Amino acid sequence: MTDATAATSSPTSSVLVIVGGSMAAVKAPSVLRRLREQDLGVRVIATPAALAFITELSLSTAADGPVGTDQHWFEARPDALHLTHARVDAAVVMSASAELLAGAAGGHANDLALATLLSVRGPVLWVPAMNEAMWRSPAVQGNVERLRAWGHAFLGPEVGAFGTRGEGTGTGRMAEPEDIAARVLELLRPVKRDLAGLRVVVSAGPTREYLDPVRFISNPSSGKMGFAVAEEARDRGADVTLVTGPVTLSDPPGVSTVRIESALELRDAVVAAAQDADIVVMTAAVADYRAATQAGEKQAKVAGDVTIHLTPNPDILLELGAAKGQRVLVGFAMETHAGVERAAAKATRKNADFILLNYPTREGTAFGGDDNQVTLVWPGGRHEDWPRVSKREVARRLLDEAVRVAHARQPV
Ligand code: CTP
Repeated sequence: MTDATAATSSPTSSVLVIVGGSMAAVKAPSVLRRLREQDLGVRVIATPAALAFITELSLSTAADGPVGTDQHWFEARPDALHLTHARVDAAVVMSASAELLAGAAGGHANDLALATLLSVRGPVLWVPAMNEAMWRSPAVQGNVERLRAWGHAFLGPEVGAFGTRGEGTGTGRMAEPEDIAARVLELLRPVKRDLAGLRVVVSAGPTREYLDPVRFISNPSSGKMGFAVAEEARDRGADVTLVTGPVTLSDPPGVSTVRIESALELRDAVVAAAQDADIVVMTAAVADYRAATQAGEKQAKVAGDVTIHLTPNPDILLELGAAKGQRVLVGFAMETHAGVERAAAKATRKNADFILLNYPTREGTAFGGDDNQVTLVWPGGRHEDWPRVSKREVARRLLDEAVRVAHARQPV
């Protein structure tokens, strides 16, 4: 993300919303309204393709102002529209098409949206919406990498239904308006680069313990918490390795992502990456047991009950804690009862610097949700309840605490 120009989200902050051509363009008025509700000044540009999906009137009504279009760009005026529209604190390109990504990555300025983007000095957030095959194409991914390297931020695309005429589901669906507005607000906060030069390893998602080639033991972890930590660490300047079990989230750009399935694979990948790490965050929901013997062939059903013989998996956090060195080690715990006592005991036993405790029974938090409500627990039992906030905000606070621990250990 661009750093020096980030502004605070005071009532005077302004945001440019560029709407690209996709079915998801119809969500633009909702985004515009949500930004205005935050007292942000809002400007909007619609590409010609966007106007095939949504009317100028819907956009101008939601923005409470005129819509910048190519048609108005060259109308006689004392100021250049692409320069006045670029004078904002942040820009968001939503229902961002492959064409817009390519134009921006190529530095093109042949329409109002692209010319304005070249002049925006604040952070830019891309919210892509396109067919999965297009999104995954090397050309699009190359453009995303390029923009990321310039500090542009990305939200989504998500897995879900998209497009028309039975294109079905897959990665490519645009993020929801409330998430777009929340991310814009985050971008308007001043950015710390306090993790520059540090190596951060994050584990995420569930593990799968196969019983035979087609059956496994697992859990519903979505990986969202770990991905949020990896993305936050990346944005704060860290060199990040994310080791993740099977989840539907795409690899975060700018993060070295390792995909694994079983706890044994997770262990090998995390232990290798942790060798020269400064901070290790274990958000993975590791299966505590695996099949003692994994059948090489699919097991046919038999009459009557079946007993599965399970054997314990290695405890990765415990193993890392036993040879911790100068590393900051952070664990997670999910408890249904006696949470603080159990989490504090876990932190002590595993030699973690602190543990974030969450509760699977709380609505809207933990497994699968976008928010989390956690309690920070230190080994001695001292603890601090955090409010329910986005997983990204939990990640921010977690890394703040990790930095405090690192500084206390190695004063700079
Ligand atoms: N963890 C791990 N390896 C395992 C199990 C858990 O590294 N085999 C990590 C998790 O990533 C998490 C922390 O340990 O950071 C706590 O996991 P949890 O399953 O709650 O702890 P357990 O020690 O397995 O305790 P319990 O007795 O409650 O199962």
